[in-house]
Amino acid sequence: MAEEKWVMMVTAQTPTNIAVIKYWGKRDEVRILPINDSISVTLDPDHLCTLTTVAVSPSFDRDRMWLNGKEISLSGSRYQNCLREIRSRGDDVEDKEKGIKIEKKDWEKLHLHIASHNNFPTAAGLASSAAGFACLVFALAKLMNVNEDPSQLSAIARQGSGSACRSLFGGFVKWNMGNKEDGSDSVAVQLVDDKHWDDLVIIIAVVSSREKETSSTSGMRESVETSLLLQHRAKEVVPERIVQMEEAIKNRDFTSFTKLTCADSNQFHAVCMDTSPPIFYMNDTSHRIISLVEKWNRSASTPEIAYTFDAGPNAVLIARNRKVAVELLQGLLYCFPPKPDTDMKSYVLGDASIVKEAGLEGELPQGIKDKIGRQDQKGEVSYFICSRPGRGPVVLQDQTKALLHPQTGLPK
Ligand code: DP6
Repeated sequence: MAEEKWVMMVTAQTPTNIAVIKYWGKRDEVRILPINDSISVTLDPDHLCTLTTVAVSPSFDRDRMWLNGKEISLSGSRYQNCLREIRSRGDDVEDKEKGIKIEKKDWEKLHLHIASHNNFPTAAGLASSAAGFACLVFALAKLMNVNEDPSQLSAIARQGSGSACRSLFGGFVKWNMGNKEDGSDSVAVQLVDDKHWDDLVIIIAVVSSREKETSSTSGMRESVETSLLLQHRAKEVVPERIVQMEEAIKNRDFTSFTKLTCADSNQFHAVCMDTSPPIFYMNDTSHRIISLVEKWNRSASTPEIAYTFDAGPNAVLIARNRKVAVELLQGLLYCFPPKPDTDMKSYVLGDASIVKEAGLEGELPQGIKDKIGRQDQKGEVSYFICSRPGRGPVVLQDQTKALLHPQTGLPK
């Protein structure tokens, strides 16, 4: 193996996910073990995903990583833990055509190049670390011929970022908190795949934010240290909600799903307020979007839209079906119109067919105006992304998509 100049690589695409029952609080900061179970929906990778190319070559002299084209350090413990765990599971790999043979024991010595890219603006504050660590672990597992199922891989991705473990699957995913000290039972499992409830449409409002937000990692540490409400939530509230949410998802019961999703988002933000000093992730625009959805749901005979907010002001809205989503998008654009110099193509991203169906010129139908109330919701939205529940990670066979050069293993 020693003198050869070959480069071997794998490119994978991994989705991001949004929790409908939130993970907030760790019982072990190093292994990243949570204080409660959580449930998420995986977003369609066509709209939000991370693409990662991993390469190995005897000519590499150290592990290196480039994120969105810029070299970053891999010295942090989260990267180191993921790399160590995955390396220890590497197996024999042979490519007879290229004359490459890697033995199990070689993975400890061989160096890696990693290039990762998000297909959505990083500054948007959307869970990029979830897709990023899941993609890193998934791509390396393929490169190193790691013979483990996605749940076992999720336990490695978890050590990069907790929410990343849920991005190893499509559809709806549960992260079991587990109770073993070594974290081996703190893994993600798929509840249902992306076809199970494919009526759902997800619209994300990327809300402009002026303040620098507290990171999830430090925010949840402060909540664990100071919030009594968090203790109550983890012990008394979430266990029951998890059972109800699993049931609602299984039965495609949108009314229960909405009730649980909104209540859990609101409780998570209440915990943030109960933290000392209090943490404010939502802003006025987020609050206006909540009011709009609450009013909409009250005016309909059964709830039509669920909302949830992570550690930032962006709203993730889940519409019961496409018809509701089209009306909702019309309503949102009425309340939050683009600035005069912004064209619609850069204001509504993702699934273009919904935008088309929403027919954005012309007057908003009175029925929708009634649902959202007066047009006094003005706030600041940078742009919207239309998406839907999506599939889990995949390897891309098309070599032209690779982010590293096949001969040099350096970014293209
Ligand atoms: C509000 O997974 O980003 O999005 O484990 O410290 O990396 P670390 O935190 P992270 O936290 C996500 C918190 C959340 C809720 C959720 O995704 O469940």
